[in-house]
Amino acid sequence: MKISYDETRKLFRMVSSEMEYAFAVNQYGRLINLYWGAPNRSESDYDILLSYNPVIKPGPRGVQRAEYPSRDSFDFGEPCLRAAFDDGAETLRLVYSSHVISGGELRVTLRDEYYPLEVELVYTTWGDLPLVGRRAVIKNTGSEPVRLDSAKSAAFWLPYGRRWRLTHYAGDWASEYQKQQQLLTQSSLRLETSQLTDAAAHHTPFFALDADGGSTEELGEVYFGMLHWSGDFQMTFETQHTQQLDCLGVTGGVSDYMSRPVLCGGESFVTPLFTCGFSSRGFGHMSEILYDWQFDYILPRGDKTDKGHGERPIICNTWYPYEFDIDEKKLLDYIPKVKRIGGELFVIDDGWMSGRTNDRAGLGDWVADPKRFPGGLGKIADAVHDAGLLFGIWVEPEMVNPDSDLYRAHPDWILSEPNRNPLTMRSQYILDMSREDIRDWAIDWLDELIESAKLDYLKWDMNRQANELGLYALERAVSVKYMRSIEYIWRHINEKYPDLLLENCAGGGGRADFGMLGFADRMNRSDNADPIDVMTIHENYSTFFVPKLAGGAGNVSPSPNGINGRAVPLEFRIASGMTGSMSIGIDLLTADDATLERLKSAIAEFKLHRRALQNSYVYRIASVYDHSYQVLEYLERDKNEFTVFAFGHNLHQWDKQLPRFRMRGLDPDAVYESDGVRMSGAALMNIGIQLRLMGDYTSSVSFWHRV
Ligand code: DGJ
Repeated sequence: MKISYDETRKLFRMVSSEMEYAFAVNQYGRLINLYWGAPNRSESDYDILLSYNPVIKPGPRGVQRAEYPSRDSFDFGEPCLRAAFDDGAETLRLVYSSHVISGGELRVTLRDEYYPLEVELVYTTWGDLPLVGRRAVIKNTGSEPVRLDSAKSAAFWLPYGRRWRLTHYAGDWASEYQKQQQLLTQSSLRLETSQLTDAAAHHTPFFALDADGGSTEELGEVYFGMLHWSGDFQMTFETQHTQQLDCLGVTGGVSDYMSRPVLCGGESFVTPLFTCGFSSRGFGHMSEILYDWQFDYILPRGDKTDKGHGERPIICNTWYPYEFDIDEKKLLDYIPKVKRIGGELFVIDDGWMSGRTNDRAGLGDWVADPKRFPGGLGKIADAVHDAGLLFGIWVEPEMVNPDSDLYRAHPDWILSEPNRNPLTMRSQYILDMSREDIRDWAIDWLDELIESAKLDYLKWDMNRQANELGLYALERAVSVKYMRSIEYIWRHINEKYPDLLLENCAGGGGRADFGMLGFADRMNRSDNADPIDVMTIHENYSTFFVPKLAGGAGNVSPSPNGINGRAVPLEFRIASGMTGSMSIGIDLLTADDATLERLKSAIAEFKLHRRALQNSYVYRIASVYDHSYQVLEYLERDKNEFTVFAFGHNLHQWDKQLPRFRMRGLDPDAVYESDGVRMSGAALMNIGIQLRLMGDYTSSVSFWHRV
């Protein structure tokens, strides 16, 4: 994006080939938002807005579209910033002070007219992508304390005169990212989470808005945004009925229900990033933009396999087949089976620690159970490595069981209040990671474990939420500090162990979010790997996240499935497993020969196409929300290969009545081939392909390549 400042108009513009974002300083020194959408042509395009628009005309009422709303003058809308000063004053008047443009970043400094409070608005861009990331740095420049009753990252304003449809994703454990859509009326609608962490399972901090609900996968404008924060957040969609219809503002940031930090003199509060983006070609292109951003800017940091192309190894994890019922003998027997089917990474999930034969003990004591693992982790690690496999292990560093040596030694380490009996959930307490000493203790034992067990892979899990965060938790911003510590530890591990593969898991997809993205090579999608439920879960996950991140202990799940008891044929489960990061949850010790051989051939076939599949865009050719079937096209970014996954269940019609499915994004002049059938890219997109889906649990996978 090109960032510019026009001194005559006091106008800031950020322009890429697909999007523009603009704001200006008005005659009272306030920042007013002007525009977000398709690019305009020149500075003078804004003269009409700066001079004539009755709503945003500079003047006392001109703060209605404040760039960083703070209840200033006649700005009555949802604020980004609310501050309470020691003399009792609770309003702000932030005026422009200075700005710096450097290296794709713009920083604008605002100061209160009277009180010693400074706000730096930071704008981040990524090459030419139609994305602008914003955050605020709020600084108490005086000596008396200031309480921040709200400290949001940014506000974004939508064009006037439209009735907006909001698309967002909400859910719960085992049913993450369920798509929600509604037309916004004159009201304030808030998406928020307030349980310390694990937010993404309930609300993904993401939104998409299209006018009148008129945009489709391929057509129409889509305004979207994401908050890069894994803790409690708020996103407010406020539709004000002004002189022109439906003025919609979106504010987002950390939850002020959960934190109201008090800044002492000289202290700053840095908000997380909140990014807005724009697609002029529907929801499909929105996903392409998000994928480009991840492939080119976010994942390279975490892509430790194969220098940036990042093919994810095929995982065999102990959780689905055995849960806590594991010991040395069983695991040593398991390793050759993993080898036989072509697995590449063996992961010991929960249950390996001292006393951890169920979820009531062992968390906090990070040593292998001497009874069940007499040779320690080292013996398993050696056997795994001798078999030519990678070795991984599960941890849950933020938790402690009451029945653990750690808790007996440090009962004061947990999040709790002095006059209450601490509550357990899944029989565990949460360690107060906002404390630096506890954070550093976790770093020490994690370092020791990674090195002594010769780990190639670490799965970090997190399985509970909390209300009781300790005394003065709001003012101490415990919930924010907690998440900052988690980010700090992840950064430490990434920097110290650049080759270690990492999985981010929180009871399934509780931390599959834009705050954790970039820290890990896999982001657990859900504990629910039932492939029928996966149709919705994965369609939505892959709307914003690249599918190679789509982890889980067993994406090729056992049947019947432990979550909902559904029995599904192996072929359907294998096809489903290929859509994400492949992991096998089937018990390989009891599986019959036919199953093992089929897994082996499926894994071999998957490996042939893995590089393409894991570096592809995903197009939703037929959505499970519209049909009793789903068709997903995975198109390699250089358009040399594409794969069509089709899943159907409870089909009432004869297969020949299914429409021809028209592909997207191909090179029209190329010829593609699959199983002896050749078609031009143009014909594949214009005429489409016939797929056979019949009856129940019916699936097909077709691999196409450029001739
Ligand atoms: C929840 C995770 O999502 C599962 O994959 C597994 O690791 C269990 N926790 C273990 O307790």
